[in-house]
Amino acid sequence: MCGIVGIVGHNPVAPLIVDALKRLEYRGYDSAGVATIEDGRLARRRAEGKLINLERKLAEEPLGGLIGIGHTRWATHGVPNEVNAHPHFSENVAIVHNGIIENFSELRAELVADGFVFASQTDTEVVAHLIARELMRGAAPKDAAFAALKRLQGAFALALLFRGDEDLIVGARNGPPLAIGHGEGEMYLGSDAIALAPFTEAITYLEDGDWTVVRRSGAEIFDMEGRTVQRQQQQSVGTSFLVDKGNHRHFMEKEIHEQPEVIAHTLAHYLDFTNGSVKPFETPFNFAEIDRLAISACGTAYLAGLIGKYWLERYARIPVDIDIASEFRYREMPLSNASAALFVSQSGETADTLASLRYCRAEGVPIASIVNVRDSTIARESDGIFPTLAGPEIGVASTKAFTCQLSIFASLAVRAGLERGTLTQDEARAMVRSLSEAPRYASQALRLEERIEKIARELSQVRHVLYLGRDTSYPLALEGALKLKEISYIHAEGYAAGELKHGPIALIDETMPVIVIAPHDRIFEKTVSNMQEVAARGGRIILITDEEGAAGAALDGAETIVMPTMPEFIAPIVYALPIQMLAYHTAVVMGTDVDQPRNLAKSVTVE
Ligand code: F6R
Repeated sequence: MCGIVGIVGHNPVAPLIVDALKRLEYRGYDSAGVATIEDGRLARRRAEGKLINLERKLAEEPLGGLIGIGHTRWATHGVPNEVNAHPHFSENVAIVHNGIIENFSELRAELVADGFVFASQTDTEVVAHLIARELMRGAAPKDAAFAALKRLQGAFALALLFRGDEDLIVGARNGPPLAIGHGEGEMYLGSDAIALAPFTEAITYLEDGDWTVVRRSGAEIFDMEGRTVQRQQQQSVGTSFLVDKGNHRHFMEKEIHEQPEVIAHTLAHYLDFTNGSVKPFETPFNFAEIDRLAISACGTAYLAGLIGKYWLERYARIPVDIDIASEFRYREMPLSNASAALFVSQSGETADTLASLRYCRAEGVPIASIVNVRDSTIARESDGIFPTLAGPEIGVASTKAFTCQLSIFASLAVRAGLERGTLTQDEARAMVRSLSEAPRYASQALRLEERIEKIARELSQVRHVLYLGRDTSYPLALEGALKLKEISYIHAEGYAAGELKHGPIALIDETMPVIVIAPHDRIFEKTVSNMQEVAARGGRIILITDEEGAAGAALDGAETIVMPTMPEFIAPIVYALPIQMLAYHTAVVMGTDVDQPRNLAKSVTVE
């Protein structure tokens, strides 16, 4: 999604803004721009495509000025070209914006009737003209901004620059995140703490409905009634890392390889491996006291929740409802007094997940969330959080956050099973011991990379792929298909293996590879029958299983990825790795932009 930066300081800001924008690249974007006040005038450079294009422009035509705003744009209204790129200008105002102004058509019509001429197709430009109109009517910049903000409906984080005041950036937030960074005689605005990391770790997060007046000397924050509000300044927890790929070609590759370590860190946060027990971490509800758990999330985080459902129901006997957050938020699900809600989000900013959380808040149920960004909005609005210790995930396709989310679900299943008396101490200890082996098996899975790379070369030749799995391998099949399509652009579908004959079997022919995820578990034989159905119709099978499974399947002509033999409980965590590697290497062979695939954003802050 769009990224925002604002700096008011003592040095030329354009290079600093570009530097900060680079740290927001991971969010996904398709054009970028920067505006400053140079020699008393608003000036800007914008470019379609990656930041390198903007840098080239700035090298040809440098931009001076000690105050400025910058933007990476993920197109919503209007194609990703230079004209639609931010910052947008109207008279003496410049604006960058993340979000969607829902009443923009109505506002645009009103402004056109007033004689304003629109240069772009964006919803953002209406805000610039609204403010310009207030300025023309004699309002001071701060008052003009406030008056315009009150007219806006929808989601926005924005930053404004005013010609005539070189010590003022106005920022506002309603939905997408916006943070103020505090420096020494220098102040910043940014979409997240990562963007501001080179400048400061002292951060104040705006809350929904807040707007701020930022000057070199500090920032004042107001609410939508215009009253001053106090928001706590904090040391950011996510800033100390460098956005660095190390020796890897892509962040995604690096993040896949980090998994043994981050899974271990995450598990060790919740489990005590020395005595095989669950640590007494805080939970916002007691699992023994709830009769239902509602889980809601988007994309890969949703699929982690789906595996969590299998585990929580099986081991702790808690009925779990799981929903895609964009559905949950509108479907008015009844929640009883004894329900609890659990949200899953790497970024902690996903608009639909946040809206679902707020629905549950209004329903009065206790709220927990599994988040990777600990100072995110979802984290801050939850009654309690279960942090994943994945570290910053930069590749747009989620990998290590997913396996860390699974690690938490597995730990919660053990904890909940003990609290509800559905697991004995011995059973729980055995499960914790199994989990303690997950990082080791994940390392072993990484050693299969060469074999997977070879299969990926074949996969890169096809247009359609089917993924099949049963039980906890079913959400993995969905995840495999999601990963492949998002980074290689090959069409892929995931199905429950048993569902094959209810429709998708019609697709099977010799051109359609079918990737079957089937550790040798209780239901392995059932999946083998489904594989036979595929083989009988000439389908090409790629089987991900263990040694026993490979021997048991006995399928002529099938490609097999042989995983280490491991306890059934931890298989979803470890089997995620070959699935990720398969998608990664296919995309590499195809030459796509692996870390920032087309049309996708890392942090989806609009619905
Ligand atoms: C897929 C992927 C997305 C995210 C989804 C939710 O690889 O990364 O499907 O999982 O956009 O994002 P978060 O977890 O930040 O809420």
